[in-house]
Amino acid sequence: MTEPFRILKPGTILFEIAWEVCNQIGGIFTYLKSKIPVMTDTYGDDYLLIGPYLPDHKKAEFRPIAALDDSAISRTIVKLRESGFEVHYGHWLLDDSRPKVLLFNPDIDTGQLNTIKARLWEKYQLSTIQSDQILDQVLGFGEILRLFFSLYTECINRDQDVLAHFHEWMSASCVPELADDKVRVATVFTTHSTLLGRYVAPNERHYFSNFQNYDWQTKANEYGIENRLVLERTIAKKAQVLVTDSEHISLECEIFLGRKPDQIIFNGINKKAVLRHEVFETYTQHREKIDDFVKALFLPSYPINTDKAVYFFTSGRYEYRNKGFDITLEAMARLNGKLMRENSDLTIVLFVISKRPFYHIKSEVLEAKQKYQDLRKICAKISQRLGPRLYANVAHSGGSKLPDLNNLIDDELLLTWKQAVRDFKSYTLPAVTMHQLAEEDDITRFCQTAGLDNKESNRVKVIYYPDFIERAKSLFGIDYQEFIKGCNLGIFPSFYDPWGYAPMETAMAGTPVIASDTSGFAHYLSEVMPNHQAGEMYLLNRKFQSDEEVINGLQEQLFSFAESLAREHYIPRATLPTYVTEPLRWKNLQSRYHEAYKLAFTRLHPDTGSY
Ligand code: GLC
Repeated sequence: MTEPFRILKPGTILFEIAWEVCNQIGGIFTYLKSKIPVMTDTYGDDYLLIGPYLPDHKKAEFRPIAALDDSAISRTIVKLRESGFEVHYGHWLLDDSRPKVLLFNPDIDTGQLNTIKARLWEKYQLSTIQSDQILDQVLGFGEILRLFFSLYTECINRDQDVLAHFHEWMSASCVPELADDKVRVATVFTTHSTLLGRYVAPNERHYFSNFQNYDWQTKANEYGIENRLVLERTIAKKAQVLVTDSEHISLECEIFLGRKPDQIIFNGINKKAVLRHEVFETYTQHREKIDDFVKALFLPSYPINTDKAVYFFTSGRYEYRNKGFDITLEAMARLNGKLMRENSDLTIVLFVISKRPFYHIKSEVLEAKQKYQDLRKICAKISQRLGPRLYANVAHSGGSKLPDLNNLIDDELLLTWKQAVRDFKSYTLPAVTMHQLAEEDDITRFCQTAGLDNKESNRVKVIYYPDFIERAKSLFGIDYQEFIKGCNLGIFPSFYDPWGYAPMETAMAGTPVIASDTSGFAHYLSEVMPNHQAGEMYLLNRKFQSDEEVINGLQEQLFSFAESLAREHYIPRATLPTYVTEPLRWKNLQSRYHEAYKLAFTRLHPDTGSY
């Protein structure tokens, strides 16, 4: 067996720090989850992750390490706990690996927080007097990290190297002080977007033509985020190495953060793309599960033919405009109008998957699911009983004519059947939102006003699923990866999506994709695979088109996709050639990080030469 490729000197300890460690919010969680297996294979116990300990943490995914030993980590944890900080140490239980993690409770004592704020003002003119809960948590987390690294580097050998790789400003508020206090930790800061980009892009009409002319301070003031932005700028400036994942964000870094990134490193994937021959098999298998749910939800109210139905979906962090939910819904509403006017017999189901605060799954949805299962059981029972009777009848009559099935059903069966059908029937419309939301949002509001209410005459039905799709608790009985394999098309007309894991994962799963040219992934695709349409991947021009133009174009595209899918018996599936996917595999991207890490060590120790 060949030794795993190792990019750091043996003994070097590598920490990866992010707000989304054991805390699913969006793309950085996917980034980490997909990258961790390669990291643990390469570095074993020398690789650890650090994140915040938040009340709604997925406890099931975290298993604490009960006994501390004499290691440097354990000794540091003891010291931190003695200073009054809440530190959790354990394993993150992922499907294919279980790395060690440290979780710090970021809610620290107010007096301590005020001391930090005063210090940051003195050192960096960073004003955090007008703070909020998140910023306070960011500063609290940063303070524990600062102490952690200071203490930890005192517990290890002088010649042992430590690298801390931070993701996004929220995890990295300690970076400036680590640098200025000369703590023996090399720092790499990967920014997956910029604060200003995230705030400004959805609100300005011609963002992509104008952002290069923005004055960061004026814009930050306008959007009330000056304190956060000054923090982000200071981190970007003080980190030994700055990395980002797309050319567009690299430009934003130069303009908004005042520093050009040292490197652009694409976001990676762990698994190979689904192979061509597997694609149809997995499609049919998972599609059946989705069909079952659609039947359960709609059949009580009116008939729906799932064999002919077309399944579209969109998904992502709840950023209504940035993720292009607004565009998708508008295009679908217009498509619905067109199909209704034309008396089309097409049925399109649009699944919208995002994460929102909710109380519980709606009881009518759970009931519908249960009743559908009951009905299926009864059908199975009837056919079980009918089978032998049918056989006996055929044997008796010599099979000359088909018996009247009504005569074969006895009263008991008939009664059970009638009762089940009565129970199954519903006189209300199928729910649009599967969960009881804590409050209405733009998606539910849009559906209401645009008539996307699942009435029978609508040709476009909507299933809004405001939770992560996980096998154990999902209404479909499958997980997200399986769900997307069972759909016909993923729609991602994002306005601001620096990389875009959702379209990448969809294409990898073999499902056709419409992606926006604003996403880093789509940009990569357009460069390396000019004939991407042949692989069922369609790029939408959002950068320089008005919303109206985008919506019209998308509506037409969706219409012709659905039409040809329903008319022809061919089911299009996406194919990504290996020359596209291989450079994105984490094991192949590691060498890029190697360069970034080496550079960080060289900058940390300028007198000793290169690492
Ligand atoms: C951020 C970006 C998203 C990207 C993810 C991982 O969430 O908005 O586009 O995929 O980070 O880099």
